[in-house]
Amino acid sequence: MSYKEKLLLIGGGGHCKSVIDVIEAEGKYEIVGIVDVEEKLGEKVLDYQIIATDNELGTLVKKYRNAFITLGQIGKGEKRKELFDICKKAGFNFPVIISPHAYVSKHAKIEEGTVIMHGAIVNASALIGKNCIINTKALIEHDAIVKDHCHIATAAIVNGGVIVEEGSFIGSNAVTKQYITIPKNSFIKAGSLAK
Ligand SMILES: CC(C)(COP(=O)(O)OP(=O)(O)OC[C@H]1O[C@@H](n2cnc3c(N)ncnc32)[C@H](O)[C@@H]1OP(=O)(O)O)[C@@H](O)C(=O)NCCC(=O)NCCS
Repeated sequence: MSYKEKLLLIGGGGHCKSVIDVIEAEGKYEIVGIVDVEEKLGEKVLDYQIIATDNELGTLVKKYRNAFITLGQIGKGEKRKELFDICKKAGFNFPVIISPHAYVSKHAKIEEGTVIMHGAIVNASALIGKNCIINTKALIEHDAIVKDHCHIATAAIVNGGVIVEEGSFIGSNAVTKQYITIPKNSFIKAGSLAK
């Protein structure tokens, strides 16, 4: 049996379930539990228990080296950024998680704490920053840059050369024109055209 590194998940909502599925499919990490609010302690998300609250991160880092933000994001990425910064300060390491059912070009670069979910495509020379969600079936085209703490939602298309500035949300099935800049903390509606 191969050794798997332990991984703590931060945020136990619906998005967490989808990320768990990706982590299990990838098979690199053993999920040790989930951190959420006090009221949810002892509850389960799929097969994994909510074992602690944010206040315990300083102790948890000594036991589990790796963490991953599994809180969802509809709109600005402020809460996910806050949790990422707290975990970084506590000393956690953030892996990159890539579904075996995604395609990521060997010429693309993906930074720590980002998940590439099932069916997503990240093409050549694309750059994805830290703590991003590239959700199920999203397409990040060649030379696109997605900066830190963004959520590219299900089936959204970020076309070639686009820059998505930090903390932005691109809704499901939205499409961007090529080589535009989406400003910081933008909310692009599901199904819309950004140009
Ligand atoms: C579905 C949608 C287009 C319209 O929904 P609605 O119920 O008719 O309208 P809402 O009450 O949600 O939104 C009203 C307004 O607030 C905006 N809004 C909604 N949630 C927002 C958020 N979290 N941050 C910033 N703006 C937001 C909407 O864009 C809309 O703007 P407008 O007044 O300029 O039209 C929009 O809410 C949306 O894109 N939601 C995200 C869906 C999605 O992609 N989910 C991702 C799943 S992975």
